[in-house]
Amino acid sequence: MSDAKTIDAAFRQVESPREPVSRSGRRIAVCPAAELLPGDKRIVDVPGGPSIGVFNIGGEYHAIKNVCPHNGAPLCLGSVHATHAPSELHQFEPCMEGRVIRCPWHGWEFDIVSGKGLYDRNSRVATYVVEVQDGVVTLVL
Ligand code: FES
Repeated sequence: MSDAKTIDAAFRQVESPREPVSRSGRRIAVCPAAELLPGDKRIVDVPGGPSIGVFNIGGEYHAIKNVCPHNGAPLCLGSVHATHAPSELHQFEPCMEGRVIRCPWHGWEFDIVSGKGLYDRNSRVATYVVEVQDGVVTLVL
C-alpha cells in the first residue's frame, strides 16, 4: 500500500473512533474538573500501572497512555495542536485543532481522541475511559 493510501486509511479510522473500554473498573481520581480546563492536560502516574495523560479537548475529557509506541518516549509531554488532512500537492487542509499530540522525541503524531497514529494505518496508542464523578475528573481503568 502506498504512503498516501496508508495515511488516508489512518485518517478514516480517526473519523469514527472506537470508544475506550474499561478493563478492570479501577477508578483513579485525577483532579477537580474546575482545574482541568479546555486545552489543559494532566499526567497521572497510576500506582502499579501506566503513566496516563488526561486531556480536556473542547470540554470533553480524553486519556491516552503516556508511552509512544515508536520508541517509548513520554508521549504526553509533546505539544498539542492541529494537523493537516491528506490533500493534493500544494494544498493545505488544517484539521483536528487541539486534538493532535506530537511525540517530543521524533515527531510522530497521534489523535488524542481515538489514539490513532496519523502516519500509518496500524499505529495506535492506548486510550482510557474518563468520567466526571462528583466534580472530579476520574480515570476508569
Ligand atoms: S519515540 Fe515517539 S516518535 Fe519516536
